[in-house]
Amino acid sequence: MQITPKQRNRTIVLGEAELVRLRQKLVYLHSTTDLANILGTTICQDNLDAVAQLPDCFVDLLFLDPPYNLDKVFNQSSFKQTTFENYKRYLQQWLKPMLRLLKPTASVYICADWRSSPAVFVVASELLLVRNRITWEREKGRGAKTNWKNCSEDIWFFTVSEDYFFNVDAVKLKRKVLAPYKDNKGNPKDWELADGGNFRLTHPSNLWTDLTVPFWSMPENTNHPTQKPEKLLAKIILASTQPNDIVLDPFLGSGTTSVVAKKLGRQFIGVERDELYCCLAEKRLELAKKQPAIQGYSDGVFWERNTLSSQKRANSLHKNET
Ligand SMILES: C[S@@+](CC[C@H](N)C(=O)[O-])C[C@H]1O[C@@H](n2cnc3c(N)ncnc32)[C@H](O)[C@@H]1O
Repeated sequence: MQITPKQRNRTIVLGEAELVRLRQKLVYLHSTTDLANILGTTICQDNLDAVAQLPDCFVDLLFLDPPYNLDKVFNQSSFKQTTFENYKRYLQQWLKPMLRLLKPTASVYICADWRSSPAVFVVASELLLVRNRITWEREKGRGAKTNWKNCSEDIWFFTVSEDYFFNVDAVKLKRKVLAPYKDNKGNPKDWELADGGNFRLTHPSNLWTDLTVPFWSMPENTNHPTQKPEKLLAKIILASTQPNDIVLDPFLGSGTTSVVAKKLGRQFIGVERDELYCCLAEKRLELAKKQPAIQGYSDGVFWERNTLSSQKRANSLHKNET
């Protein structure tokens, strides 16, 4: 039997009854509350209002994926492109109040496209210590007739102080070795011979080319217009947190940060003002229990794009060995 694209479409959608059920799970903060009441929840509210009700000094990782400086519709609301100075003011308006929530050892990541990136750097580097700028390749991108196709985004990495956690061993990348070099005894040098190819475990750089933007046949896909890949969040969460640490995402969108935090055994809080997106996040959190895998991350390592068959082979070998 032939499988049609419709049958292979795995986009997560919500029915009316599900919306009614999931709405019951959302949290609205009207006064200050104990952390214990809101860990693991999705707060459905403007983030400035929500942040004002949150306690001091509890966040280990703050992940920020705000609207970029371009015209974009987010279901019931939209963002309108503005000047560099206005976008800076927009960033300052919510970033400053969020600093109070951070532990002295916390890390902060802020996403941006090429147009928003300079403003993010200028604003955040006055408030935090800048550590790096990651650039990641978005495979998807619209071709342009009079400009270069826009196929990359930035993620700025900041910390509150010099005392911060970074686990490089948790985010190593498994790359195919094109020219397998052997030592004079004929043994592989810095790579391993494996079923399905020769691979090397490399230190991750600030240029990420192994990500796939969610699309219709991926189980994590939703109709949110700017959904981040789970694999991207997994790198950040594994590098910058320890198990049980607290991750906060005040621009939660379809819930990617909360879902990945849950899959990796971290605690989380998400804030999103659009109710439909909050419900999508809740549905993804439910699905995470049944589908704990993160595409592109298996066996404790990140794999290059298009290595699914090698990953499966490695996993079955690993299972047979244990
Ligand atoms: C770029 S998207 C985040 C996408 C998300 N990282 C994901 O993987 O789905 C930004 C989100 O922030 C939400 N948002 C914008 N302004 C907000 C505000 N003031 N308070 C809460 N949510 C806001 C939008 O509705 C949108 O879903």
